[in-house]
Amino acid sequence: MASVPTAVGAPAERREGREKVTGTARYAAEQPQPGRLHARPVPATIARGRVTGIDTAAALEMPGVLTVLTPENAPRLAEPDDPTLALLQDSRVPHHGWFVALVVAETLEAARAGAAAVRVRYAAEDHDVTLTASHPQAYVPEEANGGYPARSERGEPDAAFGSAAVRVDADYRVPPLHNHPMEPHATTAHWDGERLTVHNSSQGSTAVRATLAQMFALPEERITVVAEHVGGGFGSKGTPRPDVVLAAMAARHTGRPVTVALPRRFLPTVVGHRAPTLQRVRLGADANGRLTSLIHEVTTRTSRVKEFVEQAAVPARIMYASPHSRTLHRVVSLDVPSPSWMRAPGEAPGMYALESAMDELASELGMDPVELRILNEPDTEPDSGRPFSSRHVVECLREGARRFGWSSRDPRPRSRREGPLLVGSGVASATYPVQMWPSTAEARALPDGGFLVRINATDIGTGARTVLAQIAADVLAVPLDRVRIQVGSSDLPSAPLAGGSSGTASWGWSVHEASSQLAARLAEHSGPLPEDGLAARADTTGKADADSPWSRHAFGAHFAEVGVDTVTGEVRVRRLLGVYAAGRILNARTARSQFVGGMTMGLGMALTEGSTTDEAFGDFAESDLASYHVPAHADVRDVQAHWIDEDDPHLNPMGSKGIGEIGIVGTAAAIGNAVHHAIGVRLRELPLTPDRVL
Ligand code: MOS
Repeated sequence: MASVPTAVGAPAERREGREKVTGTARYAAEQPQPGRLHARPVPATIARGRVTGIDTAAALEMPGVLTVLTPENAPRLAEPDDPTLALLQDSRVPHHGWFVALVVAETLEAARAGAAAVRVRYAAEDHDVTLTASHPQAYVPEEANGGYPARSERGEPDAAFGSAAVRVDADYRVPPLHNHPMEPHATTAHWDGERLTVHNSSQGSTAVRATLAQMFALPEERITVVAEHVGGGFGSKGTPRPDVVLAAMAARHTGRPVTVALPRRFLPTVVGHRAPTLQRVRLGADANGRLTSLIHEVTTRTSRVKEFVEQAAVPARIMYASPHSRTLHRVVSLDVPSPSWMRAPGEAPGMYALESAMDELASELGMDPVELRILNEPDTEPDSGRPFSSRHVVECLREGARRFGWSSRDPRPRSRREGPLLVGSGVASATYPVQMWPSTAEARALPDGGFLVRINATDIGTGARTVLAQIAADVLAVPLDRVRIQVGSSDLPSAPLAGGSSGTASWGWSVHEASSQLAARLAEHSGPLPEDGLAARADTTGKADADSPWSRHAFGAHFAEVGVDTVTGEVRVRRLLGVYAAGRILNARTARSQFVGGMTMGLGMALTEGSTTDEAFGDFAESDLASYHVPAHADVRDVQAHWIDEDDPHLNPMGSKGIGEIGIVGTAAAIGNAVHHAIGVRLRELPLTPDRVL
């Protein structure tokens, strides 16, 4: 193939950037279809029990209110695989905030007023919403999330810990955390006879279509799910949510288009959250710092609606060499909202605990925490024994230390004072698995000299359109501006979701393959192209999902410098620096944004984010952005993301790993370790708010 300046790796600008900043990009709630209605759900006000009656008369008398759907009159749906979607089908209330009715009206305002006028009577039952490590109903599930076994054990971890020369035994607590994407969950649905079209804010419309097909008993060909622009999701839009089911239901019932835009304050309860975790880490080491025992035990909670087990002890299976080890997940079903996926599920809370404990061990040993980590590098994946396809965590630590100026650090806690501030620095490692799923894509050469790539990828703000066009341009050996791309509709060639940091690797593989096949066809073709061009279609089933003999993970290292105000207890992050080894970086600009975005989310996890379970109702006390504090620009003064070029032949044709989640993984631990270095006190419960620090 001809050699042209490579598009892959270049810092190409986002293709939809102008549409977004000029407000012409249309989101799911912004579909002004003729006759469109608005619907507003009514949340339950008890923690557990059932609905005994719903009085809709006052709501129905209000101007603009058309109907109120309740379990009495709502369309009957087939039982969904995900029980959180079985809405308005029966009278049970499994948790506070569960939707018990839906008001449909001519305007958003009328729907809101109507929802406030609905009167619901309940039979309340006793509830239990309190997670404790010794909860009598805690059990070890068969699996933690992601299909990982709930427990693993090698050697004799308890005996090895008991006889270790140096020991750390510490409990860490991570509170419930919330995804809170910029665009709250929303759907506009309309039926055209037996054909359903929905615009849905989703990370993957292929699964949304499958769910609607099953619940509404329709063939998939009669459903189109569009997710053209999506204002973030962070996992909360990785599966269909109540808005899409309710909108389709209300549109069917009324025969008119219906928008359900969930108010932000409903999100924590109904779109999933990161479950709280109580984590105990025990590390035993010899006098030189070599780990002899590593025990990571997690207790988490799920709802009564479904079992969801945050896999927080899983990263302990791959991070450090230790001859004796145990990891364990326990879970308690409580009368609380259902937890779900949130950026780096498992790794983010688990690595907070493990990397904090490693810092504590370094302190006990009087060792540099970078050197302690390097000393305990495994040759192969500790639990499985598989070789790593590539593992450059040591290089990330060394490169990060160099860039951060780690060598000039005085290791003694409380050794650096600037007026009322105590200043400290900390480090933590990061890891995230490489995941890929089968995908299809079509590449077409057009008679005008352009190319068109079609794939149902979802661009959730990450730059997916842009990077997929770069991959195609590279394979076709044409300038990037010759490649057009269509994503974001289930009518396009089928593709998996933007989740698990798998999107670009999964979609890109099929785009790469379709483009390669097209290039081969073009090489054989002579004369002008037919009117509809020349196309090639690829499907990576059997390739992207093939079992690998390699242990495949991205790695990274995070460095943080904090100033702790000894008068107010406020922690400010002065510098945050991450270095990543994530395969080949396909777009320097959008990759940097993803890393920085992840680190910013980790900063929030460390300092300000977290909600409180209301003992009276089991719901969250902080449910909007006025009370649940995410970092603003002033909180992130100096944040840098760097990477190490990694050439890993065991991944996919691009050589890429995922980058969407690893940025959050070690950040909270690095900041917590920096706070310990600053003030000399170990705080083990997030977030590190002034009341805890003082
Ligand atoms: Mo991510 S939490 O897998 O969307």
